[in-house]
Amino acid sequence: METTKTQFKTILESIGNTPLVRLEFPVKPTMLAKLEYLNPSGSLKDRAALYMVEEAERLGKLKPGGTIVEATSGNQGIALAMIGAIKGYRVIITVPDRTAPEKIAVLRAYGAEVHVCPNTATHDDVRGYHARAEQLLHDTPGAFMPNQYYSPSNMMGHYYHTGPEIWKQSHGLVTHFIAGAGTCGTISGVGRYLKEQNPAIKIIGVDAVNSLYSSKEPKEYAVEGLGIDVISDTFDQSVVDHIVPISDEDAFSYTRKVAKENGLLVGISGGAVLHVAMKFAQQLSESDVVIVMLADSGRAYLSKVFMTQQAETPAAKSGFKPAQERIV
Ligand SMILES: Cc1ncc(COP(=O)(O)O)c(C=O)c1O
Repeated sequence: METTKTQFKTILESIGNTPLVRLEFPVKPTMLAKLEYLNPSGSLKDRAALYMVEEAERLGKLKPGGTIVEATSGNQGIALAMIGAIKGYRVIITVPDRTAPEKIAVLRAYGAEVHVCPNTATHDDVRGYHARAEQLLHDTPGAFMPNQYYSPSNMMGHYYHTGPEIWKQSHGLVTHFIAGAGTCGTISGVGRYLKEQNPAIKIIGVDAVNSLYSSKEPKEYAVEGLGIDVISDTFDQSVVDHIVPISDEDAFSYTRKVAKENGLLVGISGGAVLHVAMKFAQQLSESDVVIVMLADSGRAYLSKVFMTQQAETPAAKSGFKPAQERIV
């Protein structure tokens, strides 16, 4: 049989179309999980990163031989590092020092240069990973910064791809969509698309309790992926029904629990999302269909979550109280 190369997908063409699987949790609604950790670099961030890089190429903002600079708590950087390795770009990533060592090792394995910065309470702190990325962008000729925290393109990747995928895979039956909220690109892009199909669908984001958004006094936190510390055009508040804050302790302990009891070795945001989904499920009926985003795998957090029994965070030690659920 004659074959051509283009009959087969490349790594970048394999991003997305992750499985949507039924979870057998003892609750009334149907619970479906989107296994985003099966993306090529291991997280949902492959989607936003590829969309932003290819848009920059189309607009001439990123040229052959150029450099990609980004501030990230890990996964956006890992996605960019993979894409950079495939497309031949230099990649420089700044991360806060709460980032799991496995993620930093993965960034370096893909050939990225990594700058580890102090874990600051706010994004505008000059010591932090954001300010460092801005400085590197300024100092590096031919550099492009996707700027996931501020660019609406982040959310458009989810609007054009993740949202339609979820609608199709759930046969239009989805009633609730629950995902971690960091940049808010996922909840905003998926939320906008799903609400256009059926305005009754509820969109729920899970935030770090100590983030700028959920706390009157933002503090450091240990969860990764979650944490709304910037409110920008990437966050379309009009399509989000609830933002639910979660503590480091609840997120870490539920992440450990679902690995042992349900065979779900997911990252901290996946554990947090499942914890919130189980609470929501108590008020729902048999006809509801809840979709949870399992953004990345627990393998990235073996040392931080699974080889220790505490949240191991300055915030956890300070004995903070969880904020109330906030409705936007
Ligand atoms: C593990 C994980 N969960 C959740 C999120 C949140 O996604 P978003 O930035 O689209 O809000 C991220 C983002 O980096 C992540 O890495």
